[in-house]
Amino acid sequence: MSKKVLAIVSSPRKGGNSELLTGQFVNGAKEAGNTVETVFLRDKKINPCLACEHCQRTGGTCVHKDDMAEIMQKLIDADVIVLSTPVYFYSLSAQLKLMIDRTFARAINMRNKEFYLIATAADGKAAMETTMRDMEGFARCIPESTVKGKIYGSAYRAGDIRKSPVMEEAYQCGRNC
Ligand SMILES: Cc1cc2nc3c(=O)[nH]c(=O)nc-3n(C[C@H](O)[C@H](O)[C@H](O)COP(=O)(O)O)c2cc1C
Repeated sequence: MSKKVLAIVSSPRKGGNSELLTGQFVNGAKEAGNTVETVFLRDKKINPCLACEHCQRTGGTCVHKDDMAEIMQKLIDADVIVLSTPVYFYSLSAQLKLMIDRTFARAINMRNKEFYLIATAADGKAAMETTMRDMEGFARCIPESTVKGKIYGSAYRAGDIRKSPVMEEAYQCGRNC
């Protein structure tokens, strides 16, 4: 069955390692016949959640008028959500954290998602675990959702990940999502 796949690329670095792995996932998912869209957070304006709870009083309307409304609808509509991030000081990119916090307005409208998580770091797998846990924390907040796959990419300079077998792993993950 064809699925709606939404890939969120959160690295500010064009052609970076997490973007390349996400691209591989996307290629696999497209070849398997799914509908796939990629959102590059570096091109989007997302203000931080103010915790004003305006959204809770108004059925999900945020006080900010920025790109998050459009992204939020894509998150709600997707069957599969791919979150990808570089590891920055053992955590998420700021861009991804901003997006996740802003789902507070309408997370109640999200359910039954299949998540795939992609992280890249200069160091090995152990350096990515706290970041994976951060993303899993978000997935846990969405009812009936599961984390179906986690992709760990170890590389420092932009593009170095091309030499790694994890490129094929990401492709296969997308192909079988
Ligand atoms: C601000 C910053 C913080 C970083 N913190 C870590 C870190 O805590 N651990 C690590 O292994 N690599 C760290 N790195 C290296 C990146 O995670 C690594 O270069 C990764 O491949 C970047 O992914 P990208 O190419 O998708 O942006 C850091 C890089 C930057 C710019």
